[in-house]
Amino acid sequence: MNHLVKIAVGATFATTLSISSTALEAHQQGDLIFRAGIARVMPNDDSDGVIGSNGLGLVAGEDGVSVDGATGVGFSGTWMMTERWGLDLLAALPFTHDIRGNGAIEGLDIGETKHLPPTLSLQYYPDFGSGRFQPYVGLGINYTLFFEEDTDSELTGALNSILGGVTSTELELEDSVGLAAQLGADWQLTEKLSFNASVWYMDIDTEASVKVNGATAVKVDVEIDPWVAMLGVAYRFR
Ligand code: NI
Repeated sequence: MNHLVKIAVGATFATTLSISSTALEAHQQGDLIFRAGIARVMPNDDSDGVIGSNGLGLVAGEDGVSVDGATGVGFSGTWMMTERWGLDLLAALPFTHDIRGNGAIEGLDIGETKHLPPTLSLQYYPDFGSGRFQPYVGLGINYTLFFEEDTDSELTGALNSILGGVTSTELELEDSVGLAAQLGADWQLTEKLSFNASVWYMDIDTEASVKVNGATAVKVDVEIDPWVAMLGVAYRFR
């Protein structure tokens, strides 16, 4: 290597090092931050009885329904209203959850549902010094839309063996509106790109209607109240 090349390489290294060891620019008013990642919905569910002694009383013992966890793709867009306050809209591709019985109907496949949980939050980005780590907190409103609810043939079979003459069952879940709290953080890799991790607690409560041969047989209050965790990347436009 001749001296000019060495100097050029040395200068490039020095510049790279100085960039990567110094703080990156904090968010500015007007920045748009897009985040995308893999999201896991982990329900903390609780429900009223369905066909047990606390529901229709068709079988002995108390029962209820459980909502299984689901994994999907989440994405969000944040508009920085000021350096510290952002308005965030969370969206996702539909999540599919299995619904099962518990208690007296432990393990019975009741059905499944898809849902979309759009959430609008106000976020605060505290001053966290000159590093590349930027945590944030958010509080907002979640609207959960349930669709393509389906019952399982196991449920139809179980009801038919108890009641007789059951040819069809249906499941309908009411949409839910509730509060959502969020905690997240970005680790800046470059001026624009960051790693992102965030977690939400969402208050999602619904009423499930089970129809037998087309007529509503039972309505069950179901609390889903999930933790939602997302791991991905953030990209900042300015
Ligand atoms: Ni709740």
